[in-house]
Amino acid sequence: MSCKILMLYFFLRLASADNNNQSGFLFDGYFKLGGSVNHSHMSSRVILTDSGLSEAGQVFYNDSFKFKNSTTGSVFSFSTTFIFSVISKDPEFSGHGLAFAISPSKGIPGALPNQYLGLFNATNNGISSNHVIAVELDTDQDFQFDDIDDNHLGIDINGLVSVKSLPAGYHSDDWHFKELVLKSGKPLQVWVEYESLNQQLNVTIHPINIPKPKLPLLSLKRDLSPYFYELMYVGFSSASGTNSSQYILGWSFRVNGQAEEINLSRLPDIPGFIRNEEGAGDGYRKQQKILAVVLSLTGGILLLLLIFGVLIMISRRRKFIQVLEDWEVLYGPYRFSYNDLFIATKAFGDKQLLGKGGFGRVYKGILPFSNIQIAVKRISHDSRQGMKEFVAEIATIGRLRHPNLVRLLGYCRRKNELFLVYDYMPNGSLDKFLYRLPNYVLNWKQRFKIIKDVASALFYLHQQWVQVIIHRDIKPANVLIDNDMNARLGDFGLARLCDHGNDPQTSHVAGTPGYIDPDIVQSGKSNTRTDIYAFGVFVLEVTCGRRPVDPRTSTEKVMLIDWVLNCWDNGAILDTVDSRLVNEYVLHEAELVLKLGLLCSHPVAAVRPACLV
Ligand SMILES: *[C@@H]1O[C@H](CO)[C@@H](O)[C@H](O)[C@H]1NC(C)=O
Ligand SMILES: *[C@@H]1O[C@H](CO)[C@@H](O)[C@H](O)[C@H]1NC(C)=O
Ligand SMILES: *[C@@H]1O[C@H](CO)[C@@H](O)[C@H](O)[C@H]1NC(C)=O
Ligand SMILES: *[C@@H]1O[C@H](CO)[C@@H](O)[C@H](O)[C@H]1NC(C)=O
Ligand SMILES: *[C@@H]1O[C@H](CO)[C@@H](O)[C@H](O)[C@H]1NC(C)=O
Ligand SMILES: *[C@@H]1O[C@H](CO)[C@@H](O)[C@H](O)[C@H]1NC(C)=O
Ligand SMILES: *[C@@H]1O[C@H](CO)[C@@H](O)[C@H](O)[C@H]1NC(C)=O
Ligand SMILES: *[C@@H]1O[C@H](CO)[C@@H](O)[C@H](O)[C@H]1NC(C)=O
Repeated sequence: MSCKILMLYFFLRLASADNNNQSGFLFDGYFKLGGSVNHSHMSSRVILTDSGLSEAGQVFYNDSFKFKNSTTGSVFSFSTTFIFSVISKDPEFSGHGLAFAISPSKGIPGALPNQYLGLFNATNNGISSNHVIAVELDTDQDFQFDDIDDNHLGIDINGLVSVKSLPAGYHSDDWHFKELVLKSGKPLQVWVEYESLNQQLNVTIHPINIPKPKLPLLSLKRDLSPYFYELMYVGFSSASGTNSSQYILGWSFRVNGQAEEINLSRLPDIPGFIRNEEGAGDGYRKQQKILAVVLSLTGGILLLLLIFGVLIMISRRRKFIQVLEDWEVLYGPYRFSYNDLFIATKAFGDKQLLGKGGFGRVYKGILPFSNIQIAVKRISHDSRQGMKEFVAEIATIGRLRHPNLVRLLGYCRRKNELFLVYDYMPNGSLDKFLYRLPNYVLNWKQRFKIIKDVASALFYLHQQWVQVIIHRDIKPANVLIDNDMNARLGDFGLARLCDHGNDPQTSHVAGTPGYIDPDIVQSGKSNTRTDIYAFGVFVLEVTCGRRPVDPRTSTEKVMLIDWVLNCWDNGAILDTVDSRLVNEYVLHEAELVLKLGLLCSHPVAAVRPACLV
């Protein structure tokens, strides 16, 4: 037996009695993926085996499950939930992650570790004969496989280029997206559920101390029957890195039914893993409790000392911060004090974090005294040059008033940081509505209104204000949705700050790839026509419900503009309208808007319309 692979530190405390029942099981112990092997812990009726076939850590359930109805050939509903924890020694090099896999064999032969996650190898990656369906918990960005970041979940079918993937996190009940860190060492619970009737695969992840969120993170509508054999095995694979340990702390699985809940109070204690406080049950021994009390007392005292230290530092620093440069006095009403913002955002705490944009982090806050809700964008900026002009521009922007612009309330400047204070928009950005709420589809009326709103904001900036203001970065992430579902353009002028910067990589062209006017690359200058170009792309994006460049679709569809243009040439422009609208849209409006989008994104700037309303 090739035993260099696995794994099992089994402390099985076995649960339900129906383990011989081939529709599911509950594994109530834990094991480590990758690492040294110990097979002498088979003390339970739930038998997991290592594949014994590859260098990647793989643990599979010893028996296969019947996944298909033999008469109809359709895949049964199935459901699985597991709790995992990735403990890394060094956050910089923490391995590539792990995956839940459904495979035709007990283990996946020939699979490689590292970026192949123990699922595939260089020759078979992406081949349909693999018949492997997996959910990856990826902690490393591999550009080779189009990974979106180094902390995401993805649905993989026969290959490592995920069919769908999103940064790790969950939707709280009030629609906020809360980020999670996969390799934080905290136990996280994952659900993978397939519903046969709707042919929908959902993946949800959440901290163990909150109930399963209503909305899944990933949702894929697809008939899985081409990928499944009738009998398949379920298990886990890992990248088997030496710098991190990947634990499964409980796992249940069921075909044709809901996976059994994992009893949280039985979570094992593993060195290095951080138990969520509320998730901790009675698993701790008394000694540990006493130790914890002692530690928390020491911690408390240290914390007090730290707070004193910080207070002293703050009061010292304040003297310097409050010094204004002459020119800044001019813009008085738009200046906020750092103290107020510090209090408003609860010290820029992680809980207040609304998101991360191209320019910096955005925090939610409540201004002391007035109780006004604000959003604070924190930008680190080390170029003093250009700051004066930029602040002058802020004063201008601060005076802009339009129902479709996010109001800039003011700014604050501190050493190498700049803070911009905006009205708070509780519904977040359009980006979220288009791509990150799998079960919320904007209807046509809303989309049409959003396009008109942004057009009217742009008209105001370009034509109605005393001076021409160029936005420079129009895209769904910069369009915010207010309480009444009106769209408001935000973040104007920020790209300019980038223009002023010393960074040679950003000083020539500002904007976001996919929205940048091809003309600007030659002239290097932004003007209203470059905004119109980005607006054209935006219009197509909202109507078609996809990003301007989508490498995951077929070649002719990768570039949105080209695709729409081609469909128009073939007399089928309406084929490009977002399929999620299922024909519930006004035909002539959609056609008009698509053509407008194409005209605005015309490669020749002079052809683009100048006036939008
Ligand atoms: C297996 O267990 C499920 C639920 O516990 C039950 O509904 C089903 O009848 C069982 N099947 C067999 C073959 O025992
Ligand atoms: C395997 O597990 C047994 C029983 O817990 C233990 O006595 C033995 O030392 C372990 N072997 C290794 C190599 O960890
Ligand atoms: C694992 O499954 C094989 C058949 O696939 C069987 O022969 C073996 O006994 C099982 N192992 C255990 C420990 O049940
Ligand atoms: C398979 O599908 C047929 C036809 O829909 C149905 O009558 C039968 O009950 C299904 N079998 C199982 C095991 O679900
Ligand atoms: C493990 O970490 C070290 C540095 O701590 C790094 O040099 C090495 O490449 C890492 N190994 C892997 C497999 O990531
Ligand atoms: C890749 O995996 C397949 C089986 O999944 C195996 O037949 C093949 O030999 C492997 N290739 C390499 C280069 O290891
Ligand atoms: C997937 O999520 C959607 C929306 O929450 C829900 O309607 C559907 O029933 C879910 N499917 C499964 C298999 O959980
Ligand atoms: C969970 O485990 C604890 C301790 O073993 C036990 O007292 C409790 O009844 C269990 N809860 C459920 C719902 O099984």
